[in-house]
Amino acid sequence: MNLKGRSLLSLNDYTAEEIRHLLEESKRLKANFKAYKRDKPLAGLTLGMIFQKPSTRTRVSTEVAMYFLGGHALFLGASDIQLGAGETVKDTSRVLSRMVDGVLARVFAHEDVEELAKYSTIPIINALSDKYHPLQILADLLTIEEHKGKLAGLKLAWVGDGNNVCNSLLIGCAKMGLHMSVATPKGYEPPNDIVALAKDYAEDTGAKIVITNDSPAAVTDADIVVTDTFVSMGEEDKEKEKLEAFKNYVVTEELCSNAKSDYIFMHCLPYKHKEATEEVFESEHSVVFDEAENRLHTVMAVLKCLMS
Ligand code: CP
Ligand code: NVA
Repeated sequence: MNLKGRSLLSLNDYTAEEIRHLLEESKRLKANFKAYKRDKPLAGLTLGMIFQKPSTRTRVSTEVAMYFLGGHALFLGASDIQLGAGETVKDTSRVLSRMVDGVLARVFAHEDVEELAKYSTIPIINALSDKYHPLQILADLLTIEEHKGKLAGLKLAWVGDGNNVCNSLLIGCAKMGLHMSVATPKGYEPPNDIVALAKDYAEDTGAKIVITNDSPAAVTDADIVVTDTFVSMGEEDKEKEKLEAFKNYVVTEELCSNAKSDYIFMHCLPYKHKEATEEVFESEHSVVFDEAENRLHTVMAVLKCLMS
């Protein structure tokens, strides 16, 4: 399968077969880590990394991946490039297209990664926007498959905010045949258009997509329980109201007692300590650091497939 030259703005752009291809490539890279360090499939290639927001996992995994693949990554922080000083996304895209071989961008507005892709002649990879976080979901799917041996037919429960990570999980789960139940407080459900897209994909795979305000119901018989921060980057001014709205949506051991006895707990991190208790986060069910490590193997697969 040839994905060379493709952008990755969301998993909407990728078929189930293409997602499967990226997951299998991730597994090969993970199993042959040393060999890939030696082979350097991206030798001579460069990646610009635009970060309008902070990052630990996405930045480090991508920079390390480019090094291991033999290429070079340039960190372009918001205050380091002219994009942050009034140059347009359109011009930034046209200039970077003349100088680097790919751009990974973490932005506030999803329209900005779309604009980058519209004017670029090179792959654009969404490293998180207000709407989607596709790289995270590739790592999540790999982690689920490693722990559960399959994807299709499992039940994933999302408890918390109907945010960018939830949106991408809805798309990824629906496409790969995982049932997903989302429990949020009223008014914080994922957007209707994304739920409609997920339900549409789910028709092909048999996945069941449920949106509810009832967290015990969402978690009942779940194989996977997932949460994320209640206050995403860029929403700091809403912190007080959101923490109040979400106070009954904390992932606790009591809530997880509704899940299957061998459930796994996932969180894309950073863990800001309001969304799940320490008991759950540190429990034997928690696979959050496997999930974090898999950001490296999956971004390596994405970079190798889209750029080499
Ligand atoms: N999960 C994730 O994207 O983490 P960072 O914000 O540290 O990149
Ligand atoms: N929903 C979080 C994810 C962080 C990786 C945010 O957008 O800040």
